[in-house]
Amino acid sequence: MSKPNVLVIGAGGVGVIAALALQLNGNSNVTLVVRSEHELIKNQGYSIESKCYGEYENFKPDNIAKSVDEAMDNYGPFDYIALTTKNIPDGSMTCEDIVRPAVTDGSDLECLSQ
Ligand SMILES: *[C@@H]1O[C@H](CO)[C@@H](O)[C@H](O)[C@H]1NC(C)=O
Repeated sequence: MSKPNVLVIGAGGVGVIAALALQLNGNSNVTLVVRSEHELIKNQGYSIESKCYGEYENFKPDNIAKSVDEAMDNYGPFDYIALTTKNIPDGSMTCEDIVRPAVTDGSDLECLSQ
């Protein structure tokens, strides 16, 4: 049985720790969308010091993509999508707009924002 495919959009503190937690759990294939410092992260990964999860050098999730479209083309389709962007990058985009390229026909799309 293959692992569920999980897409994490937004590589801030929340997204990276979410990716780490999923990866450590070992039951998901994790793709993280990294926009800024994409090349650096793809090469070197993250240095993480976490009280809950420990210390990691060069942590990388299974897959790193530059955009949601690229993630979908190379690593999709996804069973689960977590949107962890701190700010909506372009003020005119809703969270539905951001995840839409990775949502397949028949998916339930529910946006819970706070
Ligand atoms: C995760 O997904 C990628 C792309 O679909 C695949 O190449 C890779 O082998 C998978 N890794 C694991 C550990 O399942």
